[in-house]
Amino acid sequence: MKTQAQFPSYRIRLLHDVWRILVLPTISCYAFLRLADVPLGWLSPLCYSCFLVAWGYAKGIYYDRIHASRAAEMNARMVPRAKGRLPGNVDVLFKMMKAFRTSYVLDVYRELFEEHQSSVLNLRILWKDQIITMDEAHAKFVLSTGFEHFWRGRAQKERMETFLGQGIFNRDDDMWKMHRSFTRPFFARERISDFDTFERHTSRALAILSTHSFSTHPIEVQDLFARFSLDAASSFLFGATLDTLSHPLPLPSSTSSPTTASATPLPTTQSDATASAFRTFTAGFESAQRIATTRARLGHYFWPLAELFEDKSLAAQRDIRRWLDPLVERALAERCVVEGEEKAGEEEEERKTFLQHLVDSTEDKTLIRDQLLNVLLASRDTTACLLTFTTYLLALHPDVMVRLRTEVLDRCGSSRTPTWDDVRAMKYLRAVLNETLRLFPPVPLNVRESRAAPCTLPRPAHPYTGDTGAPYYMPPETVIMYFPLLIQRDPVLWGPDADAFDPDRWIDPARLAKFTGNPMMFTPFSAGPRICLGQNYALNEVSFFLVRLLQRFDGVSLAPDAQPAESRPPAEWKARPGRQAHERVWPAAAITLFVKGGLWVRFHQAP
Ligand code: HEM
Ligand SMILES: *[C@@H]1O[C@H](CO)[C@@H](O)[C@H](O)[C@H]1NC(C)=O
Repeated sequence: MKTQAQFPSYRIRLLHDVWRILVLPTISCYAFLRLADVPLGWLSPLCYSCFLVAWGYAKGIYYDRIHASRAAEMNARMVPRAKGRLPGNVDVLFKMMKAFRTSYVLDVYRELFEEHQSSVLNLRILWKDQIITMDEAHAKFVLSTGFEHFWRGRAQKERMETFLGQGIFNRDDDMWKMHRSFTRPFFARERISDFDTFERHTSRALAILSTHSFSTHPIEVQDLFARFSLDAASSFLFGATLDTLSHPLPLPSSTSSPTTASATPLPTTQSDATASAFRTFTAGFESAQRIATTRARLGHYFWPLAELFEDKSLAAQRDIRRWLDPLVERALAERCVVEGEEKAGEEEEERKTFLQHLVDSTEDKTLIRDQLLNVLLASRDTTACLLTFTTYLLALHPDVMVRLRTEVLDRCGSSRTPTWDDVRAMKYLRAVLNETLRLFPPVPLNVRESRAAPCTLPRPAHPYTGDTGAPYYMPPETVIMYFPLLIQRDPVLWGPDADAFDPDRWIDPARLAKFTGNPMMFTPFSAGPRICLGQNYALNEVSFFLVRLLQRFDGVSLAPDAQPAESRPPAEWKARPGRQAHERVWPAAAITLFVKGGLWVRFHQAP
């Protein structure tokens, strides 16, 4: 493994952009005014402004022509443009900014598709092409059949560079391939079904739930699940138990409402230095995710302006490294010792943590740290999100709760530790998880960028306009956003009850056939060469946890009394289409999906 060159600073890129956008027209304008013999007196600022606008339009027309002729050569048509009311579609931009604060998750996009009666659109905000699609034919092309035409892209990498660095999420091509082929074997069956580790962390989490349920206190489980999943992942990855479950939990209706999966409150107990470095790590980890989300929302041109004098991610990066670096250094040092001794046997190889596995292949500290952090990010909030929304849906559907509990008790009894075979045998459990992942995919939207050569997007599968026309032209070096959440709730694909939580759709053969005939309509773990590596690990962990939970508790209900007021679903949602009319919590999207203000519930202990 080798270190790749650092990504150039966003400030340099911004300068380059300013040069491109302003300097050339300015010089041209000056030359034009001189040549045309226009006196450069009081009129020139006006002339200059007009010239700039005309330049922008001319450039737009020029590029439109080029793209139109390329599209014609490829027998493709242009993606329909979002029709805003103001120049540069700035009204669409403002609407989206507002929607992030007030609307149901992704509803603003659903509305745009509906308004334009098209499953693919070019938002074209500030004259910059940006494709959004809710068509499963396009998702399939981007992720799988047309994989080579796309990459994560420079814009995304730039936003994440100080956080994810050279890890698997933040790289393409050779570096990504290297990470992928190297990480993959680690997810072998023996390792991902390490039920002893699951048991250790599960019993801690359940002990906390039990304490609360005795006193019928409401408890915030999103935060609890985030800690559970972080503790389990850290055992799996570093072999170190972080034990975040031992820190104090948030209090009901506390004034600080979490904005990510777990805004872990900084506890004041425990004084030892590692614990405090770890708490700073968690805070840094969360703050880095928030910064990445804000940058994505501000967009490619505006976020570098907002951070012109201060790279906001550096503080988070420092806190992350303070805790992670010593861990990596220790592993590297220990490796040297082992090397002196005999070569490790196969069994020992099997017991190695991901960190030990990494230090065997490279001495590059940065690379090891970045990769650890990437896999930690991949695993923590996604797994916690699945547990959170399963709990939410079980609270809304007591009948499903009863049926699932019956399956658990029939198979494992009320106290036996579940095995891998048990988990595989429980079909209803898997149906409940699939149905939760369908309605609340932990990664609800995702982004790619087309490479330097233009290509075409296949004809939409979605019959929005009864579309039977030509494929669409995909402009080069352009962002494309797709929405698993919208695809997985599309009535055209799933039928009129698409918004309803009904695990039976995964059991009834006639309904299941719809999905087996078109697997792209359900991709919570993505698809193609970059499909999730941790899928089975996550499903094992969550299944194990739920079996243990249902052995002990026979009921769960929402605790709206504890929900922070500003995180209750707004009244105007009641009149809107889809799930939002009935939703009892506020699902929101950062890098992953989460419940605004946390999920407050009461569990009922089984007699
Ligand atoms: C319910 C839980 C999970 C869900 C829904 C989920 C979903 C996803 C999705 C949608 C992607 C694709 C992201 C993209 O390409 O932009 C992904 C990638 C990935 N996931 Fe997961 N994930 C989960 C749990 C895990 C866990 C527990 C691990 C590891 C312990 C993990 C490791 C990875 C890795 C390493 C990648 C990157 C693969 C690549 O880029 O080649 N995931 N996951
Ligand atoms: C759940 O979804 C997966 C696809 O991710 C599918 O292969 C499996 O058959 C489904 N199982 C059940 C029981 O719903």
